[in-house]
Amino acid sequence: MALICVCSPKGGVGKTMLAANIAHGLHRAGRRVLAVDLDPQNALRLHFGLSLAEESGFATGMERPSDWRAALRRTASGVSLLPYGSLDAAARLALTRAIEADPERLVAPLREASADPGLTIVADTAPGVSRTLFATLPLADIILVPLLADGGSVATLPEIDSGRFFGRGTMGAILAAKLRFVLNQVDQGERLSASVTASLMRHLGARLLGLVARDEAVAEALACEALLADHAPKSRAACDLAEIVAALDAALPAAGAAAGVLAGVGR
Ligand SMILES: Nc1ncnc2c1ncn2[C@@H]1O[C@H](COP(=O)(O)OP(=O)(O)O)[C@@H](O)[C@H]1O
Ligand SMILES: [Mg+2]
Repeated sequence: MALICVCSPKGGVGKTMLAANIAHGLHRAGRRVLAVDLDPQNALRLHFGLSLAEESGFATGMERPSDWRAALRRTASGVSLLPYGSLDAAARLALTRAIEADPERLVAPLREASADPGLTIVADTAPGVSRTLFATLPLADIILVPLLADGGSVATLPEIDSGRFFGRGTMGAILAAKLRFVLNQVDQGERLSASVTASLMRHLGARLLGLVARDEAVAEALACEALLADHAPKSRAACDLAEIVAALDAALPAAGAAAGVLAGVGR
């Protein structure tokens, strides 16, 4: 298996957009792909055309932990999707308490799916640090952090770059070595964006997998509940994402033979 974990200290930087479109791109590159939503916002499903009325997900069945496979969805894109599920406020608070006590409950689907050598998993996460994130990161081959081409991202970079975001010490250093970045919402016509882009490109070097232009097509695709490569395949952002997918495909372990009970997932 190969696992990409998309995370960031900040919200609104494009984590969900990247997770969805990268999962789709890797599927188009010939991989069996499972997209897992670990964010209670439950927004990943919207990119895959699931209706807002669909509220089920693996977290809604958390009292029966072995049941997560029942929440698996085959999407029209070919990517299998494990939605988080919609929880009301009381259920969310109860789940937060349960995860605090035992984060493994939420990570069990990832751990079990990762036993399938033929599966590539893309996990979308909630912004900031959480028990769920810390239980997920050690499983990841690549920790993918989107940064916006603005001053705010430059301010968060030292925290991520130094490994402090992942905790100090050896674990933080191991996780920091898996870090790769994507610079999102790049606008070369805007002075600040162009200058932040140039300075981050210099600073990040080979750890920068690629840039995604600020492009109306991204928001339009989401409004149509579609993936960018289907909605606007010739758009600037779709071309940018295709390059990032190619870089990830080359960097990830090759997909092995399908195995076990998940063999049909992502076909
Ligand atoms: N390259 C881009 N160009 C234009 N809009 C974008 C781009 N990337 C993301 N967006 C928009 O920014 C918003 C936040 O993206 P999202 O993926 O939800 O971020 P996060 O998951 O980090 O909170 C969404 O409305 C999304 O459509
Ligand atoms: Mg999100």
